[in-house]
Amino acid sequence: MRTVRTVAELRALLKPARPGSIGFVPTMGALHEGHLSLLRAARGGNDTVVLSIFVNPTQFTEASDLVAYPRDEARDLALAETEGVDVVFAPDAAEMYPDGFATTVSVRGTIAESLEGAHRGRAHFDGVATVVTKLLLAVLPDVAYFGAKDAQQVVVVRRAVADLGLPVRIEVCPTSRDHDGLARSSRNTRLSALERTRALAIPRALKAVQDAAAEGVVDADALRERALDGLPGDGLAFEYVAIVDPLTFEQVETVEREAIVAVAARVGDVRLIDNIRIEPGGRR
Ligand code: PAF
Repeated sequence: MRTVRTVAELRALLKPARPGSIGFVPTMGALHEGHLSLLRAARGGNDTVVLSIFVNPTQFTEASDLVAYPRDEARDLALAETEGVDVVFAPDAAEMYPDGFATTVSVRGTIAESLEGAHRGRAHFDGVATVVTKLLLAVLPDVAYFGAKDAQQVVVVRRAVADLGLPVRIEVCPTSRDHDGLARSSRNTRLSALERTRALAIPRALKAVQDAAAEGVVDADALRERALDGLPGDGLAFEYVAIVDPLTFEQVETVEREAIVAVAARVGDVRLIDNIRIEPGGRR
C-alpha cells in the first residue's frame, strides 16, 4: 500500500494501473465498519483500490464541528492496509485548495437546498460537490463508492457527475449499523455512553415509521407523528423528520411509492443523520 499527498504523485502511481479498473472510496477518515464495507465492495469489484482521506473544510458549516471532527491517520492507514487498499490519497488543505482557489461546483434545486442544505446551509453541498469533483478528477476511477446513510449527498453527487459528464459509475452501499441499530458514523465516537443510548431514539423513530408504513399508513404527517411518539423528553432533539421522494428530495404528502424517511438530530453537541426507505403497505 502506498500513501501519497499530492495529485501529481497519485496520477503517476495510477498510470500503470490503467486500463485495469480502479475503485475509489472517498472519506474524511476516522474509518469505521461502514467505510470498511465500501472498501470491501471496491476490493471485490476492481483491480486497484484507492482510498482518500481528507477532512474537507469547505463542507463544514460549523467551525466547532470541523475542529471536533475525529482524526487518526495512523489507525486509518492500518485499517486500509488490512482491507487490501492499494493507494491512499491523503492530501493537505493547500493541495486541494491552493492559493487563489476560486471555483465552486454548486448543485442547485431541492436536492441540494432541502433538509441538509437548509439546516447546514448551502455551503455544505457546495463543499461536498466541489471536493468530490476534484477527488474524482484526481483519481479518475471507474467506480466510486458511497454509503446510503448520506442519502442526500448521493443524489447531489450523482447530479454533479451527470451534469459535468464525469466518466465514473457511482455505487451506493447499504448503511452499516451497530448491533442495536445505530447507524455507524465517525461522529459516534464523540458521543458519551449516555448520549449513545439517547441516540438510539433515531433508529427507533425510523423503525416506528417503517412499521406504520407496513401497517398501511400513507399520510406523511401521520407517519412523522409515529416517529416522534415516545421520544425521550431530553437529550435528543430532532432537527427534521422528513419523508421525501428518493430522486428529487421533495417532501411527499402521501406515500404512494418508495420514499425516504430522513432524520437529523442533535444529541448533546453531536449532530447525527440517518434514513431508511419505505414503501406503501410494505417493508424493505
Ligand atoms: O461522506 C463523506 O465522508 C464526505 O462528504 C466526502 C464524500 C468524503 C466528501 O468530503
